[in-house]
Amino acid sequence: MKILVLNASPKGPNSTTVHTALYLQALHPEHTFTVVPVGQRIKSYEKDFAPLRAQLEQAELLLFCYPVYTFIAPYQLHRLIELIKADGVDLSGKFASQITTSKHFYDVTAHRYVEENCFDLGMKVVRGLSADMDDLLTEQGQQEAHGFFDQLIFSCEHSLFVTPPVRAPRRDRPVYQPVLPSVPKRGDRDVVIVTNCAPEDENLRHMIADFRAALPLESRVVNLREFPFAGGCLGCFGCAITGKCVYKDGFDDFLRTQIQNADAFVYAFPISDHYTHSSFKCFDDRQFCNGHRTVTHGTPIAYLISGDYRYEPNLRMIVEGRSEVGGNYLCGVATDEGDTAYDLQTLADALVFALEHKLSRPANFYGVGGMKIFRDLIYVMQGMMKADHKFYKEHGIYDFPQKQKKRILQMKLVGALLAVPSVQKKMKGQMNQYIIGPYQKVVEQAKTAPCK
Ligand SMILES: Cc1cc2nc3c(=O)[nH]c(=O)nc-3n(C[C@H](O)[C@H](O)[C@H](O)COP(=O)(O)O)c2cc1C
Repeated sequence: MKILVLNASPKGPNSTTVHTALYLQALHPEHTFTVVPVGQRIKSYEKDFAPLRAQLEQAELLLFCYPVYTFIAPYQLHRLIELIKADGVDLSGKFASQITTSKHFYDVTAHRYVEENCFDLGMKVVRGLSADMDDLLTEQGQQEAHGFFDQLIFSCEHSLFVTPPVRAPRRDRPVYQPVLPSVPKRGDRDVVIVTNCAPEDENLRHMIADFRAALPLESRVVNLREFPFAGGCLGCFGCAITGKCVYKDGFDDFLRTQIQNADAFVYAFPISDHYTHSSFKCFDDRQFCNGHRTVTHGTPIAYLISGDYRYEPNLRMIVEGRSEVGGNYLCGVATDEGDTAYDLQTLADALVFALEHKLSRPANFYGVGGMKIFRDLIYVMQGMMKADHKFYKEHGIYDFPQKQKKRILQMKLVGALLAVPSVQKKMKGQMNQYIIGPYQKVVEQAKTAPCK
């Protein structure tokens, strides 16, 4: 089979991920592998796509190889998908699969994103391999890579493909015109609206205008398309060591002084390619200069999204997951799918309510699970990721179970007591009462205590 390996890591041949593909190439001389460092060549493809078009046309199987970057793929792969779609090269009927390496932090959303785009291109999608960064160095990891490849070829031969998700019905997007009157503004809070709105994104522009009109607070707009990004994150980890990005385009300072210091963040974008235009992904990835520190914990977030958001379950997971992991209160998402003016007005009210009441909510699985991955990663990498380690210590993020010594001891005692037959007999049917007792106490106290 003619396999085109699209190595989208910005590290090119020094990518961890591509080594799994190289390993498979070494094991399978019966297949033709062509490995292309598309991540490094993205700027040249912007100028001339023809060389890649020819390689894409010749391939039978496209193997996307990339590191998971901030819940999805690196900016370079997002940009590549835009270029492929803009070129119009016919990939329909070809097989597609993917190999990623990561720490499994939101590898699922990354894989769905690539699958969804392959479906758009009419490709036959085979489930990919999501490996840990170190998997190829272990015997088990090597076996799993091997197994993945055998399964991939088997799937191509036996037509075993991933089922495409439900698509939005084709319809003309209703035009949204600004309708909301502007209310007086208070200047005691700073709300920043971060967008990648382009001149042609008329609905989004009008949504931003109406949201600002309805918001009784001063707000500013930062358009990412106007920031002179020197490029996407290179994954060099220079910032983890020096705290500074290797690019000299001033993004670190811009992020810290123009965005992160706001009292609330509103992200505004149009949906394209199951996320949004790659300019937003460049912004996402470059925030790696914050390491894994939840530096805006507690700041409320709202989204203005133009597009068929209800048909984008993966994007919804990314939006929710990002707020959860960052410890940001998600006030809501206003879209232009239904009663847009009402959604915008309600969201503006909800944002003010969240700010005034300093709302927070307990992290759900997306947040708790994500932070546990970071906690374990930074603990192990503490020697190199010094700023992250310091932050995690200061903010009590190292909540390892072994630190709950009192609770572990309590449970041992309960276990030992319950092992005694006479105690078992006495406790029969009363266990629940013991557990629920403290909760009942809280409710009783609330009846008499004044509301906090
Ligand atoms: C900007 C950036 C963002 C990252 N985001 C994630 C992430 O969301 N989830 C994850 O598990 N790992 C994440 N990682 C770690 C990489 O996925 C991991 O180091 C990968 O193995 C690198 O592969 P490569 O050498 O092929 O580029 C991130 C790394 C960088 C530099």
